Amino acid sequence: AGPCDIYASGGTPCVAAHSTTRALYSAFTGALYQVKRASDGATTNIAPLSAGGVANAGAQDTFCAGTTCLITVLYDQSGRGNHLTQAPPGGFQGPEANGYDNLASAVGAPVTLGGKKAYGVFVSPGTGYRNNNAKGTAVGDAAQGMYAVLDGTHYNNGCCFDYGNAEVSGRDTGNGHMETIYFGDNTVWGSGAGSGPWIMADLENGLFSGAAVKNNNGDPTVTSRFLTAVVKGGPNKWAIRGANAASGGLSTYYDGARPNAAGYNPMSKEGAIVLGIGGDNSVGAQGTFYEGVMTSGYPSDATENAVQADVVAARYAVASLTSGPALAVGSSVSLRATTAGYTTRYLAHTGAAVNTQVVSAASAAALKQQASWTVRTGLATASGGQCFSFESRDAAGSYLRHYNFELAVAKSDGSKQFREDATFCTEAGLSGQGTTSIRAWGFPTRYFRHYNNGGYAASNGGIHTFDAAGSFNDDVSWAVTTGFA
Ligand code: AHR
Ligand code: AHR
Ligand code: AHR
Repeated sequence: AGPCDIYASGGTPCVAAHSTTRALYSAFTGALYQVKRASDGATTNIAPLSAGGVANAGAQDTFCAGTTCLITVLYDQSGRGNHLTQAPPGGFQGPEANGYDNLASAVGAPVTLGGKKAYGVFVSPGTGYRNNNAKGTAVGDAAQGMYAVLDGTHYNNGCCFDYGNAEVSGRDTGNGHMETIYFGDNTVWGSGAGSGPWIMADLENGLFSGAAVKNNNGDPTVTSRFLTAVVKGGPNKWAIRGANAASGGLSTYYDGARPNAAGYNPMSKEGAIVLGIGGDNSVGAQGTFYEGVMTSGYPSDATENAVQADVVAARYAVASLTSGPALAVGSSVSLRATTAGYTTRYLAHTGAAVNTQVVSAASAAALKQQASWTVRTGLATASGGQCFSFESRDAAGSYLRHYNFELAVAKSDGSKQFREDATFCTEAGLSGQGTTSIRAWGFPTRYFRHYNNGGYAASNGGIHTFDAAGSFNDDVSWAVTTGFA
């Protein structure tokens, strides 16, 4: 039985069931998600390999070969049509045209389930999915349950990495108008024990970790690489539960009365569904989503415990974030542009600014250093020792990073933000021919690109001039050579 079979037999059926990694009903054979490729704008649906099974990631890899793909739809497996698509503007605008949120890269969150490859939904700040017209989800004070499997190492303190029930308007319509799972280390509203991240409930105008409005020490810091997060709510009661999604059972972090603040009892749920954003389309958060559901009715702890056992049995495990030509940690490399007309140019820096410059064996020693990089293990903790950082050869302790999606060379301040902005994952060059493309770990839609001979973290089509689709594949495909210095 899959998670939604278990919820159904507990009398609290799924009314929304989303996953890019696997079927959540044992008989489900339909589409799990849709991807869109940049090369020709075509879309395809990805289904499980077999009924109730793992997603056919190989079909995605074939469809997306030699270009980039975005996840355009997370289909609802419950049969109610509660699909998640690109979130529209709400109280806040997203970064895309007309205030829409970004879509997730199709390759940002590879994993394996029982040894079979699949992809999660890697949410960068700016990314969001929504359904403002969902059917059958809880409204008002009606009871619902939710669980989600997340990456417990990928989070931030922005508002708000949420999955669950939110406003149909995309606007903050008041306390109690949402009820979602939240994951991250935001402390603007609530917090738990330790320094976070925590599983909390976003109930609108507040992230709650228990009955007290601010801190509740019963809600622990949780950092399992694969994390099961549970929030459920009904008249006069709610609960937070959590577990390592790869082993063991759920623990209850809170189970009791509604928060001690006006507007949360009774609740005024509206029944829209969000993923990766706040109720008002706040887009500052990051996180990774693998699977999750919303139910009708208040699931029993026993039902949720059985769902957790099913999640563990799916055997989530880490997969490689890099592919293509190998890069040796500790080596010095230079990155040559391969776009016709620019093939004598290498990625270099002039002070903080990153650009491409014509470099050869005859160049001055200083320029050779400015065009050479020591390969380091990725500085981002959440990259799990995978991926890479590029330390400047002429400025020890300074690294390539992106800032406002421009590449820069900057001294590490040791912060989580810096380490994440300075971590990049390699893959076979989009133009082939033995080249390498280098995507930003934290924004996997974005790649090292030269544009007008400047250096950027660019997406394949997008709002910035440097995101232009023309010659994107060539501009992001680098010949990795032995460093000049
Ligand atoms: O409750 C926290 C956040 O506050 C909600 O997600 C958002 O709608 C509001 O800004
Ligand atoms: O480059 C995009 C973002 O810009 C970085 O993640 C952040 O540090 C800056 O605000
Ligand atoms: O960086 C040089 C060129 O500038 C790129 O190939 C092109 O995309 C842009 O016009």
